Amino acid sequence: MTDKITPIKRKPMVAGNWKMNNTTAEAAALAKDLIRLLVNIKGVDVVICPPFTALATVGAGISGTNIGLGAQNMHWEKSGAFTGEVSAAMLRDLYCHYVILGHSERRTLFGETDEVVNRKTKAALASNLHPIVCIGETLAQRKDGKTEEIIGSQCRNSFKELDAANFSNMILAYEPVWAIGTGMTATPQQAQDVHRLIRQLVQEQTDEKTALSVRILYGGSVKANNAVELFRQPDIDGGLIGGAALDADSFAAIVNAALPSTI
Ligand code: PGA
Repeated sequence: MTDKITPIKRKPMVAGNWKMNNTTAEAAALAKDLIRLLVNIKGVDVVICPPFTALATVGAGISGTNIGLGAQNMHWEKSGAFTGEVSAAMLRDLYCHYVILGHSERRTLFGETDEVVNRKTKAALASNLHPIVCIGETLAQRKDGKTEEIIGSQCRNSFKELDAANFSNMILAYEPVWAIGTGMTATPQQAQDVHRLIRQLVQEQTDEKTALSVRILYGGSVKANNAVELFRQPDIDGGLIGGAALDADSFAAIVNAALPSTI
C-alpha cells in the first residue's frame, strides 16, 4: 500500500449515533429538521441511528429521502428466548439498512467481546444489513503504547472468518475510547495512523482492492469545528457522531464538512 492518497474513491459517510436519547416525538422532530437541512446533500451517505423505540417513526419520516436508517445494536440469533433482544430480521422489518456493532459502550458497559461482535457482524451480513463495526483503544492502552496491539487483536477477532465480499458490505469505525463523549479528539494524524493500520489489517485478511475500498469512519468528539481536518486525512472516510448528532445544525454542519468539495 502506497503512502499517497488512495486511488479508489470512497464515498464519505456520516452516521449519527443517537444512543439512549429521544422519545419518538423528539426523534421525529430531529429527523424532520435533518431532512430539511440535508435535502440537497448527494456526495455523502448520511445515516441516523435512533434508539430501537424510535426506529419505526423515524424510518417512516425519512422514507424516500437521502437519509439512511440504522440501529445501534442487535442480537446474533434469528429468534428465540432472548429477553430484551432484537434480531437482524426485526431491524430489516423496520427498513433499517445499517446497524452499529461493537460500540465501546456495548463492549465496556455490557461486556461485549470481540467474539460476540464477530457473531453479530456475521448475522447482520447474513440478513443484508450493513454493519458499522467499532474498534478502539482505551486511554490506558494508548499510554502504555499498546494501541497497535489492541487494534490488531480487535480487528483479527472481531473480523474473524470474514472475506472480501463481507468487507464490501461493511463499514468500520475507529473510535478511541478516550475520545468518546469526552471532548478529547484524536489529532488528525493520530486518527490517520490508526485508520491506515486498520486498512493494512483488512488487506492482510483480504486483498488490496478490498482494503482500499472499505470505508473507515472516525468517531470520538467529532464536532463541526474539527470535522474538516479529520475528514481531510486520506484514510478517514467520514465520521460516527454521538453528541453532535443530537443537534440538527451541528450534525448537518458535520455532514457538509465531509463533502468532497469541502475537503
Ligand atoms: P461522541 O460519540 O461524538 O459523543 O464522542 C461518538 C460515538 O460514541 O459514536
